[in-house]
Amino acid sequence: MSDERAANSPGEQERLRSIQRSVDGFTVQVIENLPVAAHWNCLELGAGAGSIAYWLAERCPAGRVVAADIDTRFLDAGRAPNLEVREADVTGDDFAPGRFDLVHARYLFCHLPARDELIARAAGWLAPGGWLVVEEPYHLPADTSPFPPVRRLMAAYQQKYRERGADMTWARGVPALLSRSGLTDVGFTGNLGCMGGLGKDRWGPLIAQAGPSLVADGLVTEADLAAFAGLLRDPSFVDIPQVTISAWGRAD
Ligand SMILES: C[S@@+](CC[C@H](N)C(=O)[O-])C[C@H]1O[C@@H](n2cnc3c(N)ncnc32)[C@H](O)[C@@H]1O
Repeated sequence: MSDERAANSPGEQERLRSIQRSVDGFTVQVIENLPVAAHWNCLELGAGAGSIAYWLAERCPAGRVVAADIDTRFLDAGRAPNLEVREADVTGDDFAPGRFDLVHARYLFCHLPARDELIARAAGWLAPGGWLVVEEPYHLPADTSPFPPVRRLMAAYQQKYRERGADMTWARGVPALLSRSGLTDVGFTGNLGCMGGLGKDRWGPLIAQAGPSLVADGLVTEADLAAFAGLLRDPSFVDIPQVTISAWGRAD
């Protein structure tokens, strides 16, 4: 866990919850389109604040759900009898091969080094017939926003992530990676991200958390943050900074 995140636990929790509020409905639809069964054993990688792991534990009452994260502060193992919370670093730690009917990861691999190889490793944790579902962000070019404060903030946000080794455009290659990892029945779909937009905003908490370090690094100014906060108060403001690409494939 980075010092920044450790020091800002309420901010991190709110960031994770805001992600969940904005995309859980989409993720549930994606998973429900698979032949989910009550006995499925599921592995939720980078489980964050846990909503999808908790939902899977309810959805698969005769199976087990492992919720794995490098930072388990926001995961509650007591939420369901068939739920296991495991502190794990997916870049190094392994899981039982050939064991899981579903391995799901959202907004995880784009942040990690050797992300292509991780797809192949995650495919190896699937039982025969099991599904790997990977959901990752694809950031639209910052300079195409019609709103100057958004252009500046998103350019800074993307630069910061790039410097940390993340790739916010990696998502478009995921379907091909799933095929190349030997998975079949590969499919994909997308969900448009929403900034502003009459109560559907997901970016206020993300920028609120990242803002101070973007200012400290000289990438944006306090005036940029204030201009963005002003936009968020404008009921007619809406922008689409990113698309979530969800892709899935099945082990033979
Ligand atoms: C952007 S959050 C997404 C959380 C959750 N998947 C969601 O979409 O609601 C990324 C999560 O991955 C976890 N994470 C980051 N690096 C990890 C690693 N190497 N191994 C396991 N989890 C990791 C973080 O702690 C965080 O909970």
